[in-house]
Amino acid sequence: MSRIPESLNELQTIFDRWAEALQKYKDNEKRIFYIGKEMPALLMNRPLFKDILTNIVKGRNFPDVRQATMFSNEFVLFIHNRRLFSVRMYIYEPGQYTPIHDHNSWGVYGCVHKRIEVIRYRREDDESKPGYARLREIERPILEPGQTASVLPLNDGIHQAGNPADNTSIMLSVYGTPIRRLYVNQYDHLQNCVSKRYPPRLRKKMLAAQTLEKILYY
Ligand SMILES: [Fe+2]
Repeated sequence: MSRIPESLNELQTIFDRWAEALQKYKDNEKRIFYIGKEMPALLMNRPLFKDILTNIVKGRNFPDVRQATMFSNEFVLFIHNRRLFSVRMYIYEPGQYTPIHDHNSWGVYGCVHKRIEVIRYRREDDESKPGYARLREIERPILEPGQTASVLPLNDGIHQAGNPADNTSIMLSVYGTPIRRLYVNQYDHLQNCVSKRYPPRLRKKMLAAQTLEKILYY
C-alpha cells in the first residue's frame, strides 16, 4: 500500500501512537477500549477527511484505490507492517448496507459523516448443518459523527453496517490482528444461509484454479 503523504502527517502521527499503545495491551478488551477512546477526535476532524476525499478525487497515490478490498466502498488508509491493526474508510450511499458478516479480528466502527447503523446478530443454530445458519437480531445502534461501536471476532461479532439515512455517509473502522482464517462468513438471515467470502485476490485465484482443472480434463 502507498505511504501516507507529508500533507497528511497528522494521520501518520495518530497511527504511530496507536501502534505503540496497542502492542502494550495483552487482550482485545483493552485494545478496543483504547481505540474507542482515541477515535472520536479523529472522526470529528472534518478537514482531514476532506483532504483524504480530495486525494481520491484527484487520483493521488494515497489512499491507494487499487488496493484489493473485501467491499467495493472500502478504502484502506493504513495497514500496520506487523498487522497489529488496520484502518479503513467506507463511503455508504443512502440505504446501502454490507451483507451480514463476521470478522477475523476485533473492530471499532466510528461515524465521520451523517449516520451509520450497525446491526448485530446472534447465531442460534449449532453449526452442524453445512451452509445453514439461523440468526437473531440483537440490537441496532445508530452512530452519529464522533460515536463508535465495537465488534468482536467470529460468532461474537456477526453484524452488518450501513447507512440508514438519505445522505451519503462515511464510516471509519479500525481492525485488530486477524486470526488465520482465509475467509469471513457471509449470512443471509432471511434464507438461513451462510457462505464463505474470500478476499478478492484469493477469490480470483480459486476461480482460475477450478477452471484450469476443468480445461485440463476437457
Ligand atoms: Fe464488518
